[in-house]
Amino acid sequence: MAVRRLAPKEKQPASFAFSAENLAWAKAQIEKYPPGRQASAVIPILWRVQEQHEGWVSEAAIRAVADLLGMPYIRVLEIATFYTMFQLEPVGKKAHVQVCGTTPCMLRGAKDLIDVCKHRIHHDPFHLSDDGNFSWEEVECLGACVNAPMVMIWKDTYEDLTPDLLNKVLDGFETGNPPKPGPQIDRQYAAPVTGLTSLKSDAKSSVPAPTKEPVLADAEPKKQTESANVRERPAPKPPMGDASKTNPPKGDKS
Ligand code: FES
Repeated sequence: MAVRRLAPKEKQPASFAFSAENLAWAKAQIEKYPPGRQASAVIPILWRVQEQHEGWVSEAAIRAVADLLGMPYIRVLEIATFYTMFQLEPVGKKAHVQVCGTTPCMLRGAKDLIDVCKHRIHHDPFHLSDDGNFSWEEVECLGACVNAPMVMIWKDTYEDLTPDLLNKVLDGFETGNPPKPGPQIDRQYAAPVTGLTSLKSDAKSSVPAPTKEPVLADAEPKKQTESANVRERPAPKPPMGDASKTNPPKGDKS
């Protein structure tokens, strides 16, 4: 994974201002938390800022979020630079492709997906394609390992990919008609690709039929058994003065 730093100064806008709609939305998020805990709203607000700011978070935007939440700038900077969900420099207008490069995806062909990005978008991550529409990066596990390999674009994951299928996904974004997120093969969610392997019978028929007779009739009341506190009471110990009976002194053979 690449080192996550703010974009260089020449790419940074001088200022950031919340749109009226987003400011009202951010204030509503802050209201969800008790007084003094407004910092808890930092991640959703940073995400909203990213959406407003063409898919990335600028230094000015980080300062604006910190001012809104009464947080030190460094705290918001730490969050924005820690999570790969936040982009720190301009990304493709139509898609920023995050390719999972963690072990399960690597074992299932993530390297080939990275090659597609290198050839189709730019040789290096975090660089815009010639038309400015696409960018890409490699990230750590995105939580869809069961359908590896996969990529995330904006909020959605595209799974069970091959180079051809990734090209089709990118074609969809190129033409403004992205495919349905999730598995890109004939798989239902995360079910086995060969179809169900368990729980195949009809749930209703697997329930045992009710017995005709009640298990316990009123005329035959349940017999009382010894209560648990009596049954499980520890065996009484001999009185302290009589301990020699259970622990005879060493050497006493009698
Ligand atoms: S390893 Fe790729 S999604 Fe988890």
